[in-house]
Amino acid sequence: MTAHILDGNALAKTLRANFRQEAEALASRGARPGLAVILVGENPASQVYVRNKVNACADAGFYSEKHVFPGDATQADVLAKIRALNADPAIHGILVQLPLPAQFDAEAVLDAIVAEKDVDGFRAENVGALVLGLPCFVPCTPRGAMRLLEEAGVDVAGKEAVIVGRSNIVGKPMAMLLMHAGATVTVCHSRTRDLAAHCRRADILVAAVGKPRFITGEMIKPGAVVIDVGINRLPDGKLCGDVDFDAARVVAGAITPVPGGVGPMTIAMLLANTLESARNSVQ
Ligand code: GUN
Repeated sequence: MTAHILDGNALAKTLRANFRQEAEALASRGARPGLAVILVGENPASQVYVRNKVNACADAGFYSEKHVFPGDATQADVLAKIRALNADPAIHGILVQLPLPAQFDAEAVLDAIVAEKDVDGFRAENVGALVLGLPCFVPCTPRGAMRLLEEAGVDVAGKEAVIVGRSNIVGKPMAMLLMHAGATVTVCHSRTRDLAAHCRRADILVAAVGKPRFITGEMIKPGAVVIDVGINRLPDGKLCGDVDFDAARVVAGAITPVPGGVGPMTIAMLLANTLESARNSVQ
């Protein structure tokens, strides 16, 4: 068997073209979607992510601002910027790129963003709404992964879904979304015993651990749908996911590549959330 490739690049491109049309329609009503991205420090991966987010805004006809702070910036400096952006009518979404340097209390920083502009969906209020199945901004990476499943025609209801990784950004919200869609969900993590046995039960396997090629071919049930959220840089400079792609693609029914799978969908969903916020602002 050779797995069907879930092409995030292609889907994100189609979505972005639709967003552009909607952005122009909103602009004509005085609400061109606007995103502010805050980057603190010089983490090279974060710099790349932020650049990609700002470029995607330009490509979709959104307004964007990038605010870069040095690694030794104080929390008070960043909070002051967030307060100004909260009050700025041109800005519909505020994103603080994570991780923040050690001297920051990330929770306090995220909490300073008003809920209506929390397009990452990381505020406690948003997370609570997600758990309850209430309207909220759904975190971009899990939302993108769900959109890929939908596009692939995967009927999630009744399926065994296994998530490897329990982060606030991916593992936990992904568990909620899959549960709401009717899957039976298992969340595995660093303390899980016999991880391979859990993974082998999965009809839908989501890898979000941040370890290169951690999920091997033997851990995958034949025909499973594999969503690889990891982006790891190898010593030779190449990128790879949390799944051993070459081994997995001959076992799985469908799989996301890295790069070109979940990554572009994360950015597309950030635009979708920003668009939603701009739409809300004119209602
Ligand atoms: N760092 C890694 N992923 C993300 C994300 O989705 N949003 C933000 N703000 N930071 C991240």
